[in-house]
Amino acid sequence: MLQEKVEILWNKEVGGLYYRLGLKCDEGFADTKPGQFVMVRISDSYNPLLRRPFSIHRLIEENGNVRGFEILFKVVGKGTTILSGLREGGFVDVLGPLGRGFVIPENFQSTFIVAGGIGVAPLFFLASDLMRAGVDSSKIQMFIGGRSKEDLLCIDEIKAMGFPVHISTDDGSLGEKALVTEIVKNKLTNTRPDMIFACGPSPMMKAVAGIAEKENISCQVSLETMMACGMGACLGCAVEKKESSDKYLHTCLDGPVFDAAILKI
Ligand SMILES: Cc1cc2nc3c(=O)[nH]c(=O)nc-3n(C[C@H](O)[C@H](O)[C@H](O)COP(=O)(O)OP(=O)(O)OC[C@H]3O[C@@H](n4cnc5c(N)ncnc54)[C@H](O)[C@@H]3O)c2cc1C
Ligand code: FES
Repeated sequence: MLQEKVEILWNKEVGGLYYRLGLKCDEGFADTKPGQFVMVRISDSYNPLLRRPFSIHRLIEENGNVRGFEILFKVVGKGTTILSGLREGGFVDVLGPLGRGFVIPENFQSTFIVAGGIGVAPLFFLASDLMRAGVDSSKIQMFIGGRSKEDLLCIDEIKAMGFPVHISTDDGSLGEKALVTEIVKNKLTNTRPDMIFACGPSPMMKAVAGIAEKENISCQVSLETMMACGMGACLGCAVEKKESSDKYLHTCLDGPVFDAAILKI
């Protein structure tokens, strides 16, 4: 794990409130797993004081070597507003890679990958990794949902990976007018994956976990729980376990990716 000031390679607006931030990091990230994250100290001042968590969206490679990584972020508050204003050549302090990422089971057969809004950030990395590992594109279906078309990211790049991509928006501005979880439910009537990977807002993770439980399908969810330290010190990211005397897990250390079956979400 690295804690270092790293150089900003690019910070590009990708429509609306979304940005891609490329960070130069010659060491420490080569073995990063999809689902892992970094804590970014956005400013040298004490406002905002706390680091902010962001998923690693993709690794930046040069001649086969990892030279850095990219974050895909949405401007929602003070920290991300400051982050959106940082420019190429500047520096941010990064701690990571942190947490546990998605686990690809050894007997992996087929999957539904389900993204809600900015939840596409780590799932793009996961889908790229599966394709790189030589998984047949017929084994993957991806579902991407958002409030509106402005909230659907990376669609063309994901479609170019070659597996079916189902698009939905709450307002019908792109794809089907439905919640992404409804599209997943419909698809399950004629296709049955042996694993669901999901990332998105809490209500969506709850819905996906419920669908997986009902259908008896293994499911890994990546939680976007708020975090203060990212390292197990503040207990701010506790998530409740199902039926256990040892009741809580830390999203930062034990997650952010969990087997949905063990969580009370
Ligand atoms: C493991 C993990 C990975 C994440 N990956 C990404 C990513 O790849 N891209 C991305 O854009 N965001 C990601 N997030 C969310 C991101 O950390 C927050 O959006 C960010 O910290 C907000 O900082 P801020 O100072 O701009 O907002 P604040 O001023 O702190 O808050 C503004 C508003 O956003 C809400 N908010 C803050 N943090 C979260 C959160 N974690 N989840 C939901 N709402 C929140 C607050 O309640 C408030 O309403 C991730 C969070 C976690 C825990
Ligand atoms: S964020 Fe502090 S313990 Fe997890």
